[in-house]
Amino acid sequence: MSDVGLAHLHAGKVRDLYDAGDGCVLVVTSDRISAFDVVMAEPIPDKGRVLTAMSAFWFEQLGDVAPHHLVSTELADLPEPARRPELAGRVMLCRRAEMLPIECIVRGYLTGSAWREYRQEGTVHGEAMPPGLPESARLPKPVFTPSTKAESGHDENISFARAADLVGVDLATRARDVSLELYRRGADWAAERGILVADTKFELGLIDHELVVADEVLTPDSSRFWPAERWVEGATPPSFDKEPLRRWLAGLSWDKTPPAPTLPSEVVVATRARYIDAYERISGRSLDDWPGRAQLPGTC
Ligand SMILES: Nc1ncnc2c1ncn2[C@@H]1O[C@H](COP(=O)(O)OP(=O)(O)OP(=O)(O)O)[C@@H](O)[C@H]1O
Ligand SMILES: [Mg+2]
Repeated sequence: MSDVGLAHLHAGKVRDLYDAGDGCVLVVTSDRISAFDVVMAEPIPDKGRVLTAMSAFWFEQLGDVAPHHLVSTELADLPEPARRPELAGRVMLCRRAEMLPIECIVRGYLTGSAWREYRQEGTVHGEAMPPGLPESARLPKPVFTPSTKAESGHDENISFARAADLVGVDLATRARDVSLELYRRGADWAAERGILVADTKFELGLIDHELVVADEVLTPDSSRFWPAERWVEGATPPSFDKEPLRRWLAGLSWDKTPPAPTLPSEVVVATRARYIDAYERISGRSLDDWPGRAQLPGTC
């Protein structure tokens, strides 16, 4: 990503944050993709536009659940030096938030680390669950399972009591209630359009002492999306977006540490198509109508 003419604040695995002045940050979402916490060398064209378009869609759709950080996705609203055509469609001008030091995870289905815990203990995040649930079962009700937000390395699951120690009991309670409601509304919406949201992560923050929804919302990167028609209890459904990448990686003897293997173009093309499909199914909109355009190899 080229320099955008503003002070750089943070480089994440996928996003870069810049100081946009007036209490705002510019969030630029790249086309980078990671698997097993390792960023691949090859970008997925249009992925940054999809994640931006999808978050913007959800902020609009779920704006009545809680306030959010998004101010604008229009280049014209950015500080002058950042109005660069190559950023079109992948920028969010946001109010700068003091991020909570927890990740607000909500799980609606028994998979991943929740399935491993249930198999051993019969609980999900310490909460007793009915016996005999198969892998990928829909949970009787969605569960809030916060984790720490690790600066480096992997996040660690924490109890609600520990989350309350970190941010205060009132804020932890509100964060839980907002997260559960965002999940419930978003998952119902997506399910009607053929996508199950198995679990998801929200990042909340404070702006002027008010709890707001920040970062990205209900995207394939922050969630496990399953195609509804491929969901069966007792097996792991393919993840909607990362399946081509994971299946290809699984066939190699890569030890999941950097450097990542070079992605063949079929995997890049298939992954790109999955991201776009998820956005278009959920929003009912076409990515062609979203600003910006993919820089595809061989096109100009
Ligand atoms: N309104 C905001 N104000 C301040 N920081 C924000 C705001 N919205 C999002 N952030 C922060 O911006 C960063 C986005 O970076 P990115 O998603 O690439 O990486 P990451 O969160 O560090 O890693 P990963 O998402 O892969 O776990 C996160 O640290 C997030 O907490
Ligand atoms: Mg992130």
